[in-house]
Amino acid sequence: MVGDGSAEREVLRIMTGPWVARAVATAIELGVLDRLAEGAADGATLAAELDLNPDRSGRLLRLLASVGVLEESGGRYRPTGVGAVLRRGHPSGMADLALLYDSDMFTSAWARLADTVRTGETAFEIAHGTDAFTYLEGHPADAARYTAGMAASGRFATTLPDVHDFTGARVVVDLGGGDGELLATVLDRAPGARGVLVERPPALAAARTRLGAFVDAGRCELVEGDFLRGVPEGADVYMLSRVLHNWSDGDARTVLRHCREAMAPDGLVLIAERVLPDDGSPWLSAVLDAHMMVMTTGAERTERGYEALLRSAGLTTHRVLDLVLEMRLLVAGPVAS
Ligand SMILES: C[S@@+](CC[C@H](N)C(=O)[O-])C[C@H]1O[C@@H](n2cnc3c(N)ncnc32)[C@H](O)[C@@H]1O
Repeated sequence: MVGDGSAEREVLRIMTGPWVARAVATAIELGVLDRLAEGAADGATLAAELDLNPDRSGRLLRLLASVGVLEESGGRYRPTGVGAVLRRGHPSGMADLALLYDSDMFTSAWARLADTVRTGETAFEIAHGTDAFTYLEGHPADAARYTAGMAASGRFATTLPDVHDFTGARVVVDLGGGDGELLATVLDRAPGARGVLVERPPALAAARTRLGAFVDAGRCELVEGDFLRGVPEGADVYMLSRVLHNWSDGDARTVLRHCREAMAPDGLVLIAERVLPDDGSPWLSAVLDAHMMVMTTGAERTERGYEALLRSAGLTTHRVLDLVLEMRLLVAGPVAS
């Protein structure tokens, strides 16, 4: 050991991260966090109630307490604030996110990171033999987990109408709109607007649940479509929330060109993404950028990167607004001719 050992300790903290993540996901799967959300319990009681091995489950509890997911007092464990948001059914959806991040679909792709860094190929395709969105169409359980996890990490959507005024919008198209949370939020806040959600089949079932009332009221249409081939004509707002970061510059440009060609003359393209700063990167954006390179041909981009893409599609950035969790909203429109 050199010095006071703090560097070595930090290495251990970083490298044991995947073990801790697996422990958290295991506690969700086994119902440990749900049970403790109902009331504190000691290890023996919990093991008996959930039919777990008392020694092993006690050691799992100790680990979770050591990393701040649980707290222990007098031999009884209860969730901390972190543990509380990991209860299944918690409005944050963090349990869904944890199970997605820990899923074999994600971890086996991350296992091929070295191949991606060496060759530039997408790790997910090396691991699974196809791209992520085609894979999801053939794997319903993974698709349900993916849509639920995306919905959880997409909670920022509810804040979007606070920074951008949708009240004058006539038709709002949400491209790759996932479970429909963002479009539902917009339609709630803009009673005069109609919505169109364009998605691939696996996400449409969830969107049907979230947007059903708007569909029944004639205010919303759910379209099975492919934004690389085309987008609905004539809308005045096209939303791309966490979509462009899944695609290479070439494919992202294709989607934006479709929007440019289809949009009303005074139309807008709203892009919600983590926008990288030009120098250095906040950890969440840097981690998610690496995740994009593992899972897709895409990347998190800088504001300049987005502007270059937009320009190449005949669009330009009007405004950039801060959302939560390092998310930003780029409001773009046609380049003045
Ligand atoms: C990262 S998710 C974002 C979902 C949602 N917009 C959000 O922010 O929570 C990307 C979405 O794009 C959809 N998607 C992927 N390829 C697509 C395509 N070619 N056409 C339409 N949607 C697509 C996926 O099904 C997925 O729901």
